[in-house]
Amino acid sequence: MTSRPPDDPVAKALALDGDAARIKDFYREWSRSYDDDVAGEGYRAPEITASLARLVQLSWLRTKRADTQIMDAGCGTGLAGIALRNAGFVQVDGFDIAPAMTEKAEQIGAYRRLLADIDLNADDPGLGEFAETYDIVTCAGVFTLGHVAPEGLRHLFALSRKGGFVIVSTREDYLKKTDFRAYAGQVEESGMAALTFTLPDASYVGDDRADYWVFRKLPA
Ligand SMILES: C[S@@+](CC[C@H](N)C(=O)[O-])C[C@H]1O[C@@H](n2cnc3c(N)ncnc32)[C@H](O)[C@@H]1O
Repeated sequence: MTSRPPDDPVAKALALDGDAARIKDFYREWSRSYDDDVAGEGYRAPEITASLARLVQLSWLRTKRADTQIMDAGCGTGLAGIALRNAGFVQVDGFDIAPAMTEKAEQIGAYRRLLADIDLNADDPGLGEFAETYDIVTCAGVFTLGHVAPEGLRHLFALSRKGGFVIVSTREDYLKKTDFRAYAGQVEESGMAALTFTLPDASYVGDDRADYWVFRKLPA
């Protein structure tokens, strides 16, 4: 894993403790240089996530790519939105906790609709009107330390239609230090969703690795 000085933005992001106000403050600052910083580090999560969305659509969905409804959760400045658009998806909505990030995402024109101030750590993030709407819910770079607790996953399943897919990256240190694996197991046992496959130990950013999880909401 890449060793980072404490003032490195990625290191700071990992220490936010899931606190909504701190996350918004931090990303207000980082939004200005985020795209350049993560490009400089070889951030791959958005492209890998969009590639998995393409694979899912080709393999399991009956909808045409251009009609496939996608919600990009924790969309940030829209890097996954760009990758999804490049993959041929055009019905893409997004949300994030940090308004400064969605403001950047607005500018790229890859999203149909964008929502800010949506906290995946909240009991009710306020996404009720979008329940069971999407064929695919993507979430790149959000299940990382300091950001969203594993339980936030349930809000992504709430957005997916039955038979739809949820694609989530989990950074390697997040998997080691949280109970995400156990929570994913509970999701399966409860019958909410089935794990279709994982892409284990794949590129994420710099030398850091991540697992990418592809779940299908039940009943399919
Ligand atoms: C590393 S960035 C990833 C952004 C984008 N998905 C990408 O891959 O470039 C993490 C994003 O998660 C958002 N985020 C952090 N905590 C969140 C929460 N509790 N609820 C919703 N979004 C959150 C941040 O505001 C930030 O935009």
